[in-house]
Amino acid sequence: MSIIDKLQAKPFLKWAGGKGQLISQMQECLPKDLFCSGRIKNYFEPFLGGGAVFFWLASEFDFENIYLYEINSEVANCYRTIKNRINKLVSELGELEREYFSQIDEKREKFYYSRRAEYNELILSTAPNNTVRKAALLLFLNKTCFNGLYRVNSKGEFNVPFGRYKNPNICNESNLFAVKEALKNAEIINGDFSKCLQYADSQSFVYFDPPYRPLSQTASFTSYCQDSFSDSEQVRLKEVFDALDKKGALVMLSNSDPKNIDPKDNYFDDLYREYEIVRLKATRMINCNASKRGEIKEILVRNY
Ligand SMILES: C[S@@+](CC[C@H](N)C(=O)[O-])C[C@H]1O[C@@H](n2cnc3c(N)ncnc32)[C@H](O)[C@@H]1O
Repeated sequence: MSIIDKLQAKPFLKWAGGKGQLISQMQECLPKDLFCSGRIKNYFEPFLGGGAVFFWLASEFDFENIYLYEINSEVANCYRTIKNRINKLVSELGELEREYFSQIDEKREKFYYSRRAEYNELILSTAPNNTVRKAALLLFLNKTCFNGLYRVNSKGEFNVPFGRYKNPNICNESNLFAVKEALKNAEIINGDFSKCLQYADSQSFVYFDPPYRPLSQTASFTSYCQDSFSDSEQVRLKEVFDALDKKGALVMLSNSDPKNIDPKDNYFDDLYREYEIVRLKATRMINCNASKRGEIKEILVRNY
């Protein structure tokens, strides 16, 4: 076994709503015995993002089939490029890293904006065959932009400003190779979460981590793509949750607890009243107002 095989893959994107901090508490809520006994063969993550839970589970358990869904086509392209064209990707990203560090401070910012312009031109163009370059640019921008945010304007242009990091780890080659290994049984699907109904069965475990219901009107975390995740989307998701339950799949879902803002807000308690609900402790990681970072609760819903 090579050193690369032994490395545990970690999320390669900084991602709003990343679940890394909750994994130790979530472990207690997983059907680990069923994973180990082989009763659960398939893993589904229909809101992939940075994939913190997927990477952790893939390092602990062997699933025969893994299905990962993401509506943002550029994020899905990154995962596919790592899986299928890693050598070319690492070479392009390594070159971007070298160019970035060869500039003195103010020029780095200029370099960032010129690569952002190149990325926007590529994602808005209809020309094919730019998949590796787009993935390399997205990884570069994710590591050098403000807070690792992914935000687009109404024209679909990525518009996050420069991040002023001293020493960003732009091309973490060993982790990218470990990610490729973790993706070996994975199908990466660019599409809506409801597509999981196509393959999920009674040997499947599904983990939903949808965009948050905003804690307040100003703190919207729902604009990962142009489409936001409204309450009617939360209801559509509940219908998919029910349909999976009927198929005999094991299903787990997390979301921010609306009681963090209004103790009387029973939105998820009501929506998922027939299922098991527990509350986990979380720290909100991304907030423009640092004084508002603090401990909040995250809800976890299960059908088992
Ligand atoms: C809260 S984030 C997931 C974070 C992830 N669990 C992590 O650890 O980084 C939600 C993700 O769902 C994606 N998404 C939003 N609407 C979707 C939809 N209808 N179907 C599939 N994915 C969607 C967003 O682009 C975003 O990447």
